[in-house]
Amino acid sequence: AYNLKNRSFLSLRDFTAQDIRFLLKLAADLKAAKYAGTERQTLKGRELALIFEKDSTRTRVGFEVAAHDQGAHVTYLGPSGSHIGKKESIKDTARVLGRMYDAIEYRGFGQSVVETLARWSGVPVYNGLTDEFHPTQILADVLTMTEHVHKPLPEIAFCFLGDVGNNMGDSLLIGAAKLGMDVRLCGPKSLWPDKSIVDEALAEAKRSGARILLTEDVQQGVNGCDFLYTDVWLSMGDPEDAWADRIKLLMPYQVNAEVMAMTGTPHSKFLHCLPAFHNTETEVGAQIRDRFGIDAMEVTEEVFESPASVVFDQAENRMHTIKSVLVATLGS
Ligand code: CP
Ligand code: NVA
Repeated sequence: AYNLKNRSFLSLRDFTAQDIRFLLKLAADLKAAKYAGTERQTLKGRELALIFEKDSTRTRVGFEVAAHDQGAHVTYLGPSGSHIGKKESIKDTARVLGRMYDAIEYRGFGQSVVETLARWSGVPVYNGLTDEFHPTQILADVLTMTEHVHKPLPEIAFCFLGDVGNNMGDSLLIGAAKLGMDVRLCGPKSLWPDKSIVDEALAEAKRSGARILLTEDVQQGVNGCDFLYTDVWLSMGDPEDAWADRIKLLMPYQVNAEVMAMTGTPHSKFLHCLPAFHNTETEVGAQIRDRFGIDAMEVTEEVFESPASVVFDQAENRMHTIKSVLVATLGS
């Protein structure tokens, strides 16, 4: 049997393509078992610490529900209320939590924080999103793709549009390169990923046969794609005064009905890690409308609410894939 016991998940670098395929298969099996009412608990009595220095809906509830389904307990440590980062260093926090918990999830700022937690806690650490990477999201994304397009991974093509050098762009690029997929990043050159990330992806592609395209041209990027994927134009922690520039720079990369049609494949689907700015119902959406006179950013309401949109399947799959990571690394 396959053994990922006691492994951390700090970025996709921690796992081989074979490991990732194993986690995806396990996630699909756990999902089927939950639906069938036959799930077996492998984490009874385990204790998980969930640290969130940035906000979250899906990642937090994904970890909590996955843990409860499997018989584990969680402690949520939010942006305030603990000593983390204020009176106590990450290194000291890691050594305290490692004495009481079987694993730690961390969402926050620098990638160096999850690395420090892993180095000093002595227990598996899972990256629930940093400025650099969002690796558990990629598992959910790929699981969702395989559920909606019945082709082997190397035959699936997708394009990530917009702020392509953010934590999602970097993670999708590395993940798809490892899995041998056809991945395109489409956005202005000034926002492309760092050369080190692109080089790493190209090296992975050499081994896996992945096709990698970075382009500023929307038609070239989306042509023949099974999935168009986008994310917010300003990520958590990015400076708020960048909105005006980002909107101007990225509006040509908005996923709207015209861009969906440009894929040329009638079955193409829409993905988004969420939350999404597709209307003005939210506080931030209303502020953006008042300041810039637009009612959607990275995706239009029309596409978001269309039958092509599989974003809520994708959101649900966060839980099943997080569960697969917990079971693979901690389960009995
Ligand atoms: N996609 C995602 O990570 O969502 P949350 O920020 O709600 O966790
Ligand atoms: N790029 C986004 C992803 C949110 C899930 C952010 O970091 O805010």
